[in-house]
Amino acid sequence: MSFSAPARALYPRIFSGIQPTGIPHLGNYLGAIRNWVALQEKADQVLYCVVDLHSLTVPQDASRLRANIRDMAISLLACGVNPDKSILFQQSKVSYHAELAWLLSCRTPLGWLRRMTQWKTKKNQQSECLGLLSYPVLMAADVLLYKTTHVPVGSDQVQHLELARDVANLFNSAFDDNSFFPEPEPIVGEHGRVMSLRDPTSKMSKSDPSDLSRIELTDTDDVIRKKIRKAVTDSTSEITYDPLTRPGVSNLVSIYGGLTGMSNDDVIRHFVGKDTEAMKSDVTDCVIEYLSPLRKRIRELRLDEKYVDETLDRGCKAAREIARENFDNIRNVLGLT
Ligand code: TRP
Repeated sequence: MSFSAPARALYPRIFSGIQPTGIPHLGNYLGAIRNWVALQEKADQVLYCVVDLHSLTVPQDASRLRANIRDMAISLLACGVNPDKSILFQQSKVSYHAELAWLLSCRTPLGWLRRMTQWKTKKNQQSECLGLLSYPVLMAADVLLYKTTHVPVGSDQVQHLELARDVANLFNSAFDDNSFFPEPEPIVGEHGRVMSLRDPTSKMSKSDPSDLSRIELTDTDDVIRKKIRKAVTDSTSEITYDPLTRPGVSNLVSIYGGLTGMSNDDVIRHFVGKDTEAMKSDVTDCVIEYLSPLRKRIRELRLDEKYVDETLDRGCKAAREIARENFDNIRNVLGLT
């Protein structure tokens, strides 16, 4: 007789967060969201969170923020985050995140936070508030609250996740229990960064003042056409991939590859004998074809308020349930009971 163990997923528990920036752009999609969707099939439990508390480290207009939280949740659903396979919820609705962040902050050495690259660059760009410095502690709380084992993140968040591991270990030794918090492992997506269409040496970003720099998931066909037509390239017409010397063309190569599933080499072979203009036209067709069903779904969901409310509600309840049990344990170990 053969013994077969029950099928185990690759990842026991996945958690990830995304800031409520409204409708995501192609960089958010290829860099994170698409990966989130795929990971739903590879984990026992998946939690995806719109991290509204994190977004408060910069000033936010209340009605804008309210709309952006909703648009981000809708977009995640439209892109394939499936509420039957993962728990989708809004961070601030589960108050344990903020509570645990406080508990963790009371033991996290300031030196660890001052070392963070993001803190070092951002503190000079905006007025320093305490939340900007303690941002990674809230992120650690997000992850540890659910005893997360794996965290899909962009490469810019790996350092924050390392801090979460250090915090986990700090508490594990204080609690004298090596397995109280599992050490969360990063899953870094394989698709490289999508760059700005206006300045291909910087990342595609919501904060770029030029709308032409990014393609949003709800852009119309005409807008997509215009943005790609105006995308900055260079005076060489041949298609090659070399992000250092030819960032503009390389960005288009990698967008095309990302959407078609082709490697960069395949893409270059595909475009042999064609010039940048011809390539832009193919990239345009490909982006339009790929995004149009997502755009349609976003439009439908924007009209279906009830479904969206119910889905987020369901997610919040499910998250709260897991969080409550863990948080009660933490309170107990700390002597708060
Ligand atoms: N800091 C992350 C970002 O800006 C978002 C985030 C918040 C996150 N909490 C998280 C990501 C927990 C992974 C896990 O992209």
